[in-house]
Amino acid sequence: MEIFKSPEEMRGWAREQALSGKTISLVPTMGYFHEGHLSLMRLAAQQGDLVVVSLFVNPTQFGPNEDLDRYPRDFERDMTLVRQEKVAAVFAPTPESMYPQGFQTEVSVRNLAIYLCGRTRPGHFAGVTTVVSKLFNIVQPDVAVFGEKDFQQLAIIRRMVCDMNIPVRIVSLPIVREADGLAMSSRNANLDPANRVAALSLSTALYLARERCRQGVTSVVELTKILEAHILSFAGTAIDYASFVDSETLEPMTVVDERTVLALAVRIDGKVRLIDNGYVIPKPTN
Ligand code: PAJ
Repeated sequence: MEIFKSPEEMRGWAREQALSGKTISLVPTMGYFHEGHLSLMRLAAQQGDLVVVSLFVNPTQFGPNEDLDRYPRDFERDMTLVRQEKVAAVFAPTPESMYPQGFQTEVSVRNLAIYLCGRTRPGHFAGVTTVVSKLFNIVQPDVAVFGEKDFQQLAIIRRMVCDMNIPVRIVSLPIVREADGLAMSSRNANLDPANRVAALSLSTALYLARERCRQGVTSVVELTKILEAHILSFAGTAIDYASFVDSETLEPMTVVDERTVLALAVRIDGKVRLIDNGYVIPKPTN
């Protein structure tokens, strides 16, 4: 397995592979791998000849008061895990090589970025779309694989690829969960045992919304009341948002239907911010 630290080395290798007729699937990540990341790598392996994993804790998608410093990192552990997968190369650049002195360009998607996480994390999605476009230009993949866990990020990246005629096929993977329902996340490593219990407020809220909807409660006002009370019944939780949105436009809905996604962001003990989402009326494949 190759490990590249500079964009030039990464691009040189990727060009050689493309010239020899190989297709590349890219898995962009910020590292501290869990089963969700590893599942993305396995899906990527089915989509092309060579898998490239990028590992970069992208500073531009963190706000000034966010957890950039506390974001979990362990390069050696990640390399041990990734070597067990069918991964041809890891791209792990330094912040200086991605954002050298004088850097001033931003790629941003307008409307989809104003809802949900965009409201409480201004600038976050511009950081994501800027780094993902850079990764696409450096690795020049045929396919890129993203998780549905970051549902808004996925919608925004699909929009960017379409709007900018980027020749990369976007493939998505459903949320990978722990046995008790908690959506896997690198940030779960920052949960102590009490907070780990409170973290279940998200997935159980999703299941509760599905149950109440099955029982005939489809008014978003009513469902929101039920869910807010449920989430706040866990000690130490603060709701960032609990929103019922259209799966494509991300606009808020008033009555639940087949297109409605419940998107949740909850802060646990003031420290760890977790997200989760799902269709309120599950798709037959979910
Ligand atoms: P990161 O949080 O490391 O996630 C990398 C990829 O793993 C994303 O596509 C994310 O949706 C997916 N993922 C995370 N947890 C998952 C889970 N439980 N089930 C399925 N997929 C999961 O998302 C980012 O990094 C960054 O914003 C990035 C796109 C790399 C840009 O910096």
